[in-house]
Amino acid sequence: MSEQRGQGGGAPIDPRQWEESRATVPAGEDTRSRFTEGEEVPDNIREQTREGEDPYQWHSGRTREHGSTDAVEFIDVKKSFGRNTILNGLNLGLPDNQISMILGPSGTGKSVCIKHMVGLLYPDDGDVLVHGESVPGMADDELFETRKKFGVLFQDGALFGSMNLFDNVCFPLRQHTDKGEDEIGEIVNRRLREVGLEGAADKMPNELSGGMRKRAGFARALVLDPDIVLFDEPDSGLDPVRTALLCELIMEVHEENGGAYCVITHDIMSARRVADYIAILWKGRIVESGPASELFNSDNQFVRQFLSGEAQGPLGME
Ligand SMILES: Nc1ncnc2c1ncn2[C@@H]1O[C@H](COP(=O)(O)OP(=O)(O)OP(=O)(O)O)[C@@H](O)[C@H]1O
Ligand SMILES: [Mg+2]
Repeated sequence: MSEQRGQGGGAPIDPRQWEESRATVPAGEDTRSRFTEGEEVPDNIREQTREGEDPYQWHSGRTREHGSTDAVEFIDVKKSFGRNTILNGLNLGLPDNQISMILGPSGTGKSVCIKHMVGLLYPDDGDVLVHGESVPGMADDELFETRKKFGVLFQDGALFGSMNLFDNVCFPLRQHTDKGEDEIGEIVNRRLREVGLEGAADKMPNELSGGMRKRAGFARALVLDPDIVLFDEPDSGLDPVRTALLCELIMEVHEENGGAYCVITHDIMSARRVADYIAILWKGRIVESGPASELFNSDNQFVRQFLSGEAQGPLGME
C-alpha cells in the first residue's frame, strides 16, 4: 500500500483552484472533459480510438445538477499503471443521500475509482475529496478514521471463509469499536434481519448461495452505520431474479438509512431500477453524468448507445 501511496508524487491540487476553474466554465458544461488542441493523448487511449478521430468527441463532460452536496469528488484525477493510463483527468461528484451508479465498459477503471475513494490507490495527479477532505492528503490516522465512513461490498462478498456468517458481520464492530458483545449481537442481528438472513447466522460462507453471500457482505458493509456505501458489481454472477431482489434490497435499505450509495455495474436494467444519478466512464473521463431520468433521455449518441445496450453506435470493440 505504501508503494501505491507515494506513486507519481504529484502534490494534490488545492480545491480552491478547482472552485476558481469551475467558475469559468459555463453552467452545465465541463469543457475539460473534451479533447483540447495540443493535448497529449496516452498511447493506450489513442489505441482505443478509430484512426483520425478525437478520442473525447463524445465526452461533453456535461454535469447535470443533482440538487445535493457531493459526498465524494474526483478533481482532474490522473492514474496510470506503467504506460497504461486508466484515469486521464477524471472529474466527478457523487451526491449525498442518493444512489449513484458508475457505468462503463469493462476495464475502464471503475474498480480503480472505488479504490481511490477509500485510499487504497492514490492519484498520480489531481485530488479525491470525501466530504470535502483530500484523501491523498490525509495522514494514516485520518485515513483510518475516514475509512470508517465507508461500507464496501466487494464483488464476491469477500467473507472470511473460516468464520460463520454472524462472526463475519460482527468483524468490523469488533475491529473498529469498543462495543460490548451484547450490543454487537443486537446490531448484527438487526442487519441480518434487514437483508433476510436472520436464520443463517450459524452458516459458514461455503454453505451459502452467491446471492446470500452478497446479502451477507451487504449486512457487514452496514454495521458501522456508514455515510457512504460502495458496491462493486453487486449483481455480477447473480441470475436476473436475484439481481432484481438485490436491487430492491439496496433501495429499501437506502430509504431506511440514507447516505451516499455508489453502485458499480454493467447491468443497464439495474441502473434503470436503482439509480438516482448516473455517470458514464470511458477512456479515463466522464462522458456525461446527471440524474438518471435525464441521462436515459440524453441526445448524446454514445450515452444513448451505452444505456440501450445497442451494437450500433460510436462504441465499438476496439
Ligand atoms: N494495481 C494495479 N496494477 C496494475 N494495473 C491495474 C491495477 N489495478 C487495475 N489495473 C488495470 O486498470 C484497468 C482498469 O481496471 P478496473 O479493475 O478498474 O476495471 P473495471 O472498469 O472495474 O473493469 P470490470 O468492469 O471488468 O470490473 C485494467 O486494465 C487493470 O488491469
Ligand atoms: Mg471492476
